[in-house]
Amino acid sequence: MATIFYTATSLDGYIADQNNALDWLFQFGELEPNTFDDFLAGVGAIAMGSTTYQWLYDHDFSAESDNSQPWPYPVPAWVFTSRPLPLIADADVRFVEGDVRPVNRDMAIAAGEKHLWIVGGGDLAGQFYDAGLLDEMVLQVASVTLGGGAPLFPRRVDPPLQLLSANTYGANFVELHYSVSYAFSDQP
Ligand SMILES: NC(=O)c1ccc[n+]([C@@H]2O[C@H](COP(=O)([O-])OP(=O)(O)OC[C@H]3O[C@@H](n4cnc5c(N)ncnc54)[C@H](OP(=O)(O)O)[C@@H]3O)[C@@H](O)[C@H]2O)c1
Repeated sequence: MATIFYTATSLDGYIADQNNALDWLFQFGELEPNTFDDFLAGVGAIAMGSTTYQWLYDHDFSAESDNSQPWPYPVPAWVFTSRPLPLIADADVRFVEGDVRPVNRDMAIAAGEKHLWIVGGGDLAGQFYDAGLLDEMVLQVASVTLGGGAPLFPRRVDPPLQLLSANTYGANFVELHYSVSYAFSDQP
């Protein structure tokens, strides 16, 4: 079981543009072959921040949305927020706030042997990293730059990530799979 930040990102390190839009990503359609379904089959619990949840709500579930979809995740979801958010029917969601460590514990219990997926955003993944809980990153790097937006991982990473694999998908994507290392020290 690993805690994994799996996300698409622009070449210059943004996972959404300044308007929280993803059309820069959706213009490419699905990756071929699509690795996401295999990844999701190995996931037992997910976590996301409120902007990501609100994006899902606005696009697929709000009264204004003309894109009615079922909740896409077959596993329990933890949504980090400090404010009330709209509920989504039939979505197995828990709203939580603050320290990621107790949430990580609850997610691990729910997931059993399966992985924990940090959906995003980047700072939430960074909070798991800060707590020494992030094990891997899988980054699908698209061949576009955005010049600004929601940052991929607003942290200094040291020691360096260890590259496990790099695969190309057509002319527009590289998938980078890293393990995360930590420099734990007994020094005060
Ligand atoms: N490219 C991709 O594949 C991909 C993947 C995922 C997401 N996205 C997109 O990327 C963007 C990410 O947005 P974002 O950077 O704002 O990140 P986010 O993690 O989705 O949302 C950040 C917000 O979550 C809440 N939050 C985070 N940590 C918290 C904590 N420990 N306790 C309580 N609340 C906490 C805070 O808001 P409040 O306290 O005000 O609620 C914070 O401002 C979204 O547009 C999303 O749709 C893209």
